[in-house]
Amino acid sequence: MTQTDTASRDGIVAIVERHGADRTSLIPILQDIKRTRRGIDSQAMQIVADLLDIHPVEVYSVASFYAFLHGAPEGAYVVRLCGTLSCDFAGKDAVADALRDELGIDFDETTDDHLFTLEWASCVGMCDQGPALLVNDRVYTRVTPEMAREIVAAHRAAGAPDGAQEIVTKGNELTYGAIPAGAGLKAALAMPRGDIVDTVSASSLKGRGGAGFPTGMKWNFCAAEKSDQKYIICNADEGEPGTFKDRVILREFPDLVFEGMTIGGRAIGAGMGIVYLRAEYAYLRHHLNEVIRRRREAGLLGKNVGGVEGFDFDIVVANGAGAYVCGEETALIESLEGFRGEPRNRPPFPAVAGFLNHPTVVNNVETLASVACVFAKGVDWFKGFGTDKSTGYKLFSVSGDCEKPGVYEFPWGITVADLLKEVGGTGAKAVQIGGASGVCVPARDFERRLAFEDIPTGGSVMVIGPDRDMLDVAENFLEFFVEESCGQCTPCRLGNAQLLEGVELLKKGDCTPEHLADLKGLGATMQVASKCGLGQTSPSAFLTIVDGFADDVTTRPQSV
Ligand SMILES: Cc1cc2nc3c(=O)[nH]c(=O)nc-3n(C[C@H](O)[C@H](O)[C@H](O)COP(=O)(O)O)c2cc1C
Ligand code: SF4
Repeated sequence: MTQTDTASRDGIVAIVERHGADRTSLIPILQDIKRTRRGIDSQAMQIVADLLDIHPVEVYSVASFYAFLHGAPEGAYVVRLCGTLSCDFAGKDAVADALRDELGIDFDETTDDHLFTLEWASCVGMCDQGPALLVNDRVYTRVTPEMAREIVAAHRAAGAPDGAQEIVTKGNELTYGAIPAGAGLKAALAMPRGDIVDTVSASSLKGRGGAGFPTGMKWNFCAAEKSDQKYIICNADEGEPGTFKDRVILREFPDLVFEGMTIGGRAIGAGMGIVYLRAEYAYLRHHLNEVIRRRREAGLLGKNVGGVEGFDFDIVVANGAGAYVCGEETALIESLEGFRGEPRNRPPFPAVAGFLNHPTVVNNVETLASVACVFAKGVDWFKGFGTDKSTGYKLFSVSGDCEKPGVYEFPWGITVADLLKEVGGTGAKAVQIGGASGVCVPARDFERRLAFEDIPTGGSVMVIGPDRDMLDVAENFLEFFVEESCGQCTPCRLGNAQLLEGVELLKKGDCTPEHLADLKGLGATMQVASKCGLGQTSPSAFLTIVDGFADDVTTRPQSV
C-alpha cells in the first residue's frame, strides 16, 4: 500500500468512526466521503464495507441510488441546474446553454481541471424564483445567462458572489408570524398526555404533506403502541416539483416546527425527533441546528423538557441525499436507516413499525407547525378557518406564469379563480395543483375549490399561461418521474417511460387514437397497481392533460 493509499484509508476510517461505525450512518458517511474525496470509488466502498461489516455491494447499491452520492469523481464545484417546469417557463434552457458554453462541458460531465461538474437537478425547491441552480450547497435564484457566466467565473476565482436569496411573498402576513413563540408547547405540556391527542383530533387537522391523513388519528395509533422507544419524524424532504412552502417555514418559523415535534413527542411517548432535510436544502441545516441548540439551552429540548419531570425529548437533523421518492414516509425511513430509499409494503404502517421497527409518526413540516398553532390559539380559533372537512389555513407554493410567485396563506376552500386573482395569474390556461403528481385543472374549472373535499393538495400551484404547450408540461413531469421512480415495481418503472414515449409521439402527431386509448388505460393501471404513491399518482398530470386539453393534444400535424 502506498503512502497516499494509507493516508486516504486513514481519512475514511476517521469519517466512519466519527459517525460511530454504525450501519444507519451509511448515508452521512458516504456524504462526508463524497465531500472530502469528490467521489466514492471502489476502494472507499470496500473500506466502508469492512468497517461496517457489510458487503461492498450494499455500499454500492446505496451510493448509486442517491443523486448526491453517485460514485463518479466530481469537480470541486457541482453545478446543478433545476429542470422543473417553473424553471423551464422562466428560461432555464438559455441558462443551460450559457453554462455549457462557459464551462466547455455538457451536462453530466466534469471539466478537465476537475473544478466543475455540470448536472441537472430534478427540482431544487426554488420554483418561485427560477431559473435556480445550486453550486454545492449554495443556491442561486433568478439566474440569467449572464449571471450563470458570472457565477462560474466567481467560483473559478475561488470567491463566490452572494447569490442566495429568500423571498417570502406576503411573509409578514402569514399567521405563523403572529403566533407567540412557546405558547403552543406551554399549553400542551400543561395537559394530561391523552388530552393532547384529543385536542389534535378535535381540531380536525389533516396532514399538509399531500395525503391529508387526520393527524390526531395517526398520533392515536402510535400512542396506543406499547414500546419504550418511539420516534417522531418531520418530513422536510419537499421534493415535489412546485412545492417550496416547507423551505420558507423551516427558514422563518423553525421554532413552531420544533414545538409541534415536541408536542407530538409528548403525545405519543417518543424520546427522539428527527428532521429529514432534503439534500437540496443543506444550506438550512446550520440554521436549524442553531435553533435546536438554543432550545436545548432554554430547557425546551433535552431532559425534563419545559420543566415536566420525566419528559426527555431531543431533536436531530438528518440530511437526505437527493431522491424524490424519499419523501414517501416508508422510503424516508429506509433512507434514515442507511438503505436505498425504496418504499416498504404497508401494513405495517410506520405508526406501528417505523424507524428501526419502532412505532413512528411521520408528519409534514407544515402539519407540525400547525399543531403548535392549534395549541397556541385553541381548537375553535383553528376551526374558524377553512371548511367543515378541511379545517384551518394552508400555505400554497405558487409558481409559473403569474406576476407574484411565492408562498401564500389562504383558508382551505378558496377557489382556483380567487387564488389566481391574488397572485396575478388571471388569464391562465390551466393550473397544475399538487405538483407533478397532482392534477391539471383547465380554465373552465377554475371555480373548483382547493380543499380535501374537492381538489386536495399539499399546496403546489403551478400557473400555466395561455401560450404554453400542454404536451411540454406533461413531458416535463414524465421526465421527472422516469428519473425519480425507484424502479422497484413494473407499473411505475416501465409505465412512466411508456407514457413519456406516448407524449413524444403526440407531439409529433404520430400517436393514433388507439394508442392514446392504450396509454390512458396504462395510466389507470399504474394508479391501482403501483406499489407506492409515486407510481399511483405519476400518471395524473398526463391523464388530466389528455382529457382536459384534448384539442391541444390530438391536433398536431403528423411528422413526415
Ligand atoms: C413519492 C412521494 C413523495 C412524498 N414527498 C413528501 C414530502 O416531500 N413531504 C411530505 O411531507 N410528504 C411527502 N409525501 C407524503 C408522505 O408519504 C406522508 O404521507 C407525509 O409525510 C405524512 O405527513 P402528514 O400526514 O403530516 O401530511 C410523499 C409521498 C410520496 C408517495
Ligand atoms: S411505485 Fe415507483 S417509486 Fe413506488 S415502489 Fe414502485 S417503482 Fe418505486
